[in-house]
Amino acid sequence: MTEQAATSPVETTAVAEPAVAKTPGAQSVAAPAKAPAILTRQLTKRYGALTALDSLDLQLESGDVFGFIGPNGAGKSTTMKILAGLLSPTSGMAEIFGKNVFENGDLVRRSIGYMPDTFGVYEDLKVTEYLEFFAAAYDISRKERKKVVNDVLELTDLQYKRDALVDSLSRGMQQRLGLARVLVHDPPILILDEPASGLDPRARIEIRELLKELQRMGKTIMISSHILSELGEFCNKIGIIERGRLLVVGAIDELVARARLQSVVHLQVVSDQSRAAGLLREDPRIAKVEEAGNQLILSLKDANQHHSFVIDLLVAQRISIHSITPEQIRLEDVFLRLTKGIVH
Ligand SMILES: Nc1ncnc2c1ncn2[C@@H]1O[C@H](COP(=O)(O)OP(=O)(O)OP(=O)(O)O)[C@@H](O)[C@H]1O
Ligand SMILES: [Mg+2]
Repeated sequence: MTEQAATSPVETTAVAEPAVAKTPGAQSVAAPAKAPAILTRQLTKRYGALTALDSLDLQLESGDVFGFIGPNGAGKSTTMKILAGLLSPTSGMAEIFGKNVFENGDLVRRSIGYMPDTFGVYEDLKVTEYLEFFAAAYDISRKERKKVVNDVLELTDLQYKRDALVDSLSRGMQQRLGLARVLVHDPPILILDEPASGLDPRARIEIRELLKELQRMGKTIMISSHILSELGEFCNKIGIIERGRLLVVGAIDELVARARLQSVVHLQVVSDQSRAAGLLREDPRIAKVEEAGNQLILSLKDANQHHSFVIDLLVAQRISIHSITPEQIRLEDVFLRLTKGIVH
């Protein structure tokens, strides 16, 4: 692809063009000590009477993997576009590594790899040409470009499609190519708007593995989704947004504790099941004991209570335990409780 062609992209989407670099050879911004990777204060975006984003306060440290969860129209994409410097807020502030997003456009864009929720149309552009275009836009020298493109193709497992036309790729491959593209300038922060939407289960797993790899590389990642369980596994922080307001934010474990879900334990005893059930029903820490075949299902009153007391209690009564397993708390249940105003 020629330099001339590189300055006339055929992308038809309105967003996500990288800034054309003004400082040749400039690399990503190094994080000044302790400045949060992302910081917003009272960040607000209004469209006429509609408040798409309402006073968002968010702080992400370097290395955080933040899952941004919310239903359609919640304000996720709005937030991400503001952080990527593509949309101005109505009020409030947004910083990347301590620098105001709107006063340091070039610098900030070099620190961020933003992947929008739409891919765009790229007629007659090969995978390698597509990536080389973005590498050129970030002022990566012609000599380096080949290596960078090879590296990101390898990371995203797209080497075998290097000569394919971008428009001929499957959706899953296009999503991976979208990720490859935001990696060409090796930004420390990735802002990924629903990278797994519309993918089949296998492609979702591939994207998830790739994100885990990026996490291991030390990237700070902000990733949006409608689906909590999709992100729960590898995000260390989660924020739930609805109608422009951040309802909750915190570590997954904290949120589970805040939702005060009852925890459920499955128990199998070697013998004396009904005697065990009777004993457990008398314990004030247990809300309910159900007998289901050869299993007892115990609902503990306090989700933070460890189930070891059940073992102590039964062992003291010489009842042998075959197995005891805490039930996985479903993240969807946490989500529902936190967003239905049960928890304040
Ligand atoms: N350019 C615009 N003009 C007017 N309203 C807009 C504009 N862009 C977004 N909105 C509105 O702002 C609100 C937030 O939209 P946003 O795209 O941020 O939601 P989202 O959480 O990304 O939703 P989705 O899950 O559907 O992608 C919505 O009500 C949307 O209709
Ligand atoms: Mg969106």
